[in-house]
Amino acid sequence: MRTVRVPLGNRSYDIRIGSGLLSRLGAECARLKLGTRCAIITDTNVGRHYAKAAFNSLARSGFEPALIIVPAGETAKSLKSVQDCYNRLALHRLERKSFVLALGGGVVGDLSGFVAATYLRGIAFIQVPTTLLSQVDSSVGGKVGVNLKAGKNLVGAFYQPRLVLCDLDTLRTLPDRDYRSGLAEVIKYGIIYDRPFFCRLERDLPRLLRRDRATLTAVIARCCEIKAAVVGRDETENGQRAILNFGHTIGHALEAISSYGSFLHGEAISIGQIAAAALSRQLSGMSVRDFERITELFRRAGLPGGVKLTAVQRKKLFSAMQLDKKVTAGEIKFVLARRIGKVDWGQRVPPETIARVLADHAPAKRIFQF
Ligand SMILES: NC(=O)c1ccc[n+]([C@@H]2O[C@H](COP(=O)([O-])OP(=O)(O)OC[C@H]3O[C@@H](n4cnc5c(N)ncnc54)[C@H](O)[C@@H]3O)[C@@H](O)[C@H]2O)c1
Ligand SMILES: [Zn+2]
Repeated sequence: MRTVRVPLGNRSYDIRIGSGLLSRLGAECARLKLGTRCAIITDTNVGRHYAKAAFNSLARSGFEPALIIVPAGETAKSLKSVQDCYNRLALHRLERKSFVLALGGGVVGDLSGFVAATYLRGIAFIQVPTTLLSQVDSSVGGKVGVNLKAGKNLVGAFYQPRLVLCDLDTLRTLPDRDYRSGLAEVIKYGIIYDRPFFCRLERDLPRLLRRDRATLTAVIARCCEIKAAVVGRDETENGQRAILNFGHTIGHALEAISSYGSFLHGEAISIGQIAAAALSRQLSGMSVRDFERITELFRRAGLPGGVKLTAVQRKKLFSAMQLDKKVTAGEIKFVLARRIGKVDWGQRVPPETIARVLADHAPAKRIFQF
């Protein structure tokens, strides 16, 4: 087992990464000295596989968990689900020392974290992420929230968990498409922060695609270390934390204009990162070689490199980018890379350049329908 500490003063916490952690959940929670009443929030898919193990482990350690199951999928990240969860917490009489435990992917984590942050003005929160994406990204760093019709993650908070447990065994049941989607965030860490890690991914990709346990432990731990370091320096995104948004300006806009239905998050940001790399090539001096290595790694990971848009969709994409939280005074800002491992945030990019890059990387055939 590996432990990575997120350094945030008296709100610091550990991320544990290893096998068999779910059966030790109760014992791990007991060390935090919280109240006995708690709630497990999960979704229908994850619940089917792991709710019983989580529930029993907590009960064995003397906890009294309520089990809340929300529908699987992005639509569960809504104010309606938040309200349903509040009602269940009240029914189960959760109190100030109680805690909420998120058992699932990024959707369950973001929703549960927001519920924990706001119920009784905040109760303790524990994350048990079960997708690769949530283990390397969304469970770390404290961004929690839900979507509005107008846009993704528009309502939320910064709220740190007390503990994150990444049980690698849970990844065995993750569908292939979701697993590859998580790899898009993994590759991002190499591009934004760590050139040797990017080289390692190029070398170890076949092992990673086989979900080899030792490789996964090392890779997930490195991603968490990078995210912890970035978040530790800039918790509420006043500066450096913005580098984590590499590829996300276009990625989030693609998710929004397709009503969060056609692309998985990782697929959208894969397209976004290749576009950002192409922009970096033109505006930040990225070499052709680095650009090719980036596109090649996404291709080998089975992730999309571009999207074919109609004129109407292109127009919608640009208005969606204007709604992004990173826009200031109407100006779209990008994270661009000088080379693999070194990025700058807050880079202004003319809309015509974005449109040209997207057109250049559009596949001949329409792969995503929306
Ligand atoms: N808070 C943050 O910092 C942050 C960062 C990145 C992404 N996010 C958010 O995370 C969400 C995406 O997360 P995700 O990709 O984990 O999606 P998800 O939570 O929807 O999970 C993907 C699918 O896999 C299923 N699943 C989860 N774990 C499983 C398992 N072990 N076995 C079988 N099925 C399993 C789920 O039911 C779902 O159908 C988005 O809403 C995104 O905005 C948040
Ligand atoms: Zn992301």
